[in-house]
Amino acid sequence: MLTTLAIANYRSLRELIVPLGQLNIVTGPNGSGKSSVYRALRLLAETARGGVIASLAREGGLPSTLWAGPERFSRGMLAGDQPVQGVRRSEPVNLRLGFAGDEFGYAIDLGLPTPSSSAFSLDPVIKRECIWSGPLVRPSALLVDRQGASIRARDDSGEWQTIPQPVASFDSMMTEFSDPRSAPEMIAVREQIRSWRFYDHFRTDSESPVRLPQIGTHTPVLSDDGADLAAALQTIREIGNPAALDAAIDDAFPGASVDVVNLDGRFEVTMHQHGLLRPLKGAELSDGTLRYLLLVAALLTPRPPALLVLNEPETSLHPDLLPALARLIAHASRHSQVLVVSHAARLIAALEREDGSHSIVLEKELGATRIAGADQLDLPPWKWPGR
Ligand SMILES: Nc1ncnc2c1ncn2[C@@H]1O[C@H](COP(=O)(O)OP(=O)(O)OP(=O)(O)O)[C@@H](O)[C@H]1O
Ligand SMILES: [Mg+2]
Repeated sequence: MLTTLAIANYRSLRELIVPLGQLNIVTGPNGSGKSSVYRALRLLAETARGGVIASLAREGGLPSTLWAGPERFSRGMLAGDQPVQGVRRSEPVNLRLGFAGDEFGYAIDLGLPTPSSSAFSLDPVIKRECIWSGPLVRPSALLVDRQGASIRARDDSGEWQTIPQPVASFDSMMTEFSDPRSAPEMIAVREQIRSWRFYDHFRTDSESPVRLPQIGTHTPVLSDDGADLAAALQTIREIGNPAALDAAIDDAFPGASVDVVNLDGRFEVTMHQHGLLRPLKGAELSDGTLRYLLLVAALLTPRPPALLVLNEPETSLHPDLLPALARLIAHASRHSQVLVVSHAARLIAALEREDGSHSIVLEKELGATRIAGADQLDLPPWKWPGR
């Protein structure tokens, strides 16, 4: 389980240390930084998949995503007597992401490249990456350590071994290794991060593939866009928890049931609703109904990930469905650590009543996101590896 998420200089997250529990609810007013927390987690996941530089480029590049405020606020700026202005920086600007968990911690530090004539002269440069054991990075706890192009890892006897081939400035050290003997912890951390699963807004418009029959194969993990919904529901029915599936449908739509029909290898979702003479097909279901079915398939996955992240799952659901959704999310949190970003008061209230839930309320002060009501002392200890 992740115990701490740490982000520095990413959008409004100038320096945010977030304590995490088993079921986390991230809330806060518009512009407080909720989506930024979600996106920062996605960037961390991209690191282990080799896509962090491309993801940053899609967001407008490092210069646009870096914290746009000053390195420090003077006393006058904090009191409002002085305008907020930049002062000479004492440290290079860098985007830093990291986490600590039960076993390992990981941090990555991305900086601006030195000016060059390369056509890729705007690509961020990975300056430092570390994996350590325990909650805090300390020299004695370091297990794998990348500085620029060089990587060293501790061997079985605890001695540092430098890995012969240099790593490119745009590659994470985690995408470089396939030999588990050279750095087993790196493989462990990478596989853990690669199992993280993210669900953002599902498309349910009339053209959406979710509404059409699709070729069905065993689908223990619903895809990002939910196009394989019918196969995912059928997989839950056959090798997952069919009773929980039926209960989740009945909880939201009393008397209704869902069936997956196989039309020559193409699977289609159908729903029997109370009062109708025939079942409705995917194309005929309302947006909210279809979204709820997508969330059922995502949350009752027969292959639960280490971390499941949901961004605003309440979108287009009627508030009356939110308690049922909260029960589904709580069910998922028995098998996965869960983080939900939400605006919906009713969903938040229902989740907060669940055992092990942990609310993270964000607010913004002088353009920077902070956790509302958190005393510095309540926050988990965190240290960034130096450069
Ligand atoms: N480079 C940057 N530096 C500082 N602040 C930034 C930067 N880029 C974006 N912001 C600001 O960060 C804030 C947080 O944005 P974010 O999208 O995370 O908010 P949110 O909590 O998801 O809001 P909403 O509820 O409206 O979706 C916004 O006010 C945005 O304008
Ligand atoms: Mg948002």
